[in-house]
Amino acid sequence: MPTPHGAPDVVIIGAGVIGSAIAWRAATRGLRVTVIDPDPASGASHVAAGMLTPVSELTYGEEPLLHLGIASRDRYASFVAELEDASGLETGYRSDGILEVAFDTDDLAFLDDLRRFQESLGITTEALNGRECRRLEPMLAPSVRGGLLAPRDGSVDPRRLTAALLAACRNEGVRLVRERAAGVIVEHDTAVGVRLDDGGEVRAAKVVLAAGAWSNDLAGLPEGAVPEVRPVKGQVVRLRTRVPFLRRTTRGVVRGSSIYLVPRADGEIVVGATQEEMGFDTTVTAGGLWQLLRDARELLPGITELEFVEVSAGLRPGSPDNAPVLGAGALDGLFLASGHFRNGVLLTPITADVMAEILADGTVPEVAAPFAPGRFGVEARA
Ligand code: GLY
Repeated sequence: MPTPHGAPDVVIIGAGVIGSAIAWRAATRGLRVTVIDPDPASGASHVAAGMLTPVSELTYGEEPLLHLGIASRDRYASFVAELEDASGLETGYRSDGILEVAFDTDDLAFLDDLRRFQESLGITTEALNGRECRRLEPMLAPSVRGGLLAPRDGSVDPRRLTAALLAACRNEGVRLVRERAAGVIVEHDTAVGVRLDDGGEVRAAKVVLAAGAWSNDLAGLPEGAVPEVRPVKGQVVRLRTRVPFLRRTTRGVVRGSSIYLVPRADGEIVVGATQEEMGFDTTVTAGGLWQLLRDARELLPGITELEFVEVSAGLRPGSPDNAPVLGAGALDGLFLASGHFRNGVLLTPITADVMAEILADGTVPEVAAPFAPGRFGVEARA
């Protein structure tokens, strides 16, 4: 269907890290792009710590995701270099490795298993004893048993990243509509635009759904057009230090439960995260806060001296298999970029490049093929 005169080529629902990165990349390929979001970068992207850890976060049964994650991590350096140039803003990107430590003997056994699993997939991490961990991070508790160093993992500051993406979008001529998307306009079995909460509409030849945990919250879509995306709550604490405290991102396993601490150059330390299946609840709870600070203190006793800055809760978008859903959906004209679950920030560069290629050229890069919506019985038609 031809795009009405003056209408964008692409309209994107959602200006979180995924939607704004797709918008920027699509615009640099010459597409006219409009993004719809009442409050850009205010959802999960605002809460996320920004770990870039495909190796450290490797989970049994998620091997295809590991390859996508590594591919995305490995294009981060060039992605942020281009973005910082395009926006004039820094992103806080670091690629100085991630240390994962074990609190007790059982936790160390878990890390040993993880290292064997990583090795079976051809990924080498360095096994360290407790003393070697403390040489890297002197503030670690004497009781820390040992750990693994993933030398190529890293981090980025998602708040800076989204600010840079939105600035780069502006510079590239992307139009931002600060309204809630109420629904998708479907005519003749084809998505042709987005209906806004205020009654207005934005028509475009291609509609991209990048609404994170709210991806099923749109009227007008036929049943089954979008796989189910569920909200998975994560509570995150932000602290600040004025003295050197933590050199690199440190993950820990404390009596079987996971914790991570992500330091920034300005002294901020982000401690995360709970993982709770609670629906659309973003209440910060005493229990969530206590769990994070308790486990952080087991690993880094000095943490209680740091300044408290903020606690927040966000909603990760979880697809039925916890992997992202990328590409054309069952409805002509509708494209999906959702369900990134724990990996939205990590998968931003690859998602943006893959979706820009699909939107501009109509071809699906090989790396994205396992993540097509069709794996849930949603057949591609666009
Ligand atoms: N990727 C970290 C988290 O989702 O908590």
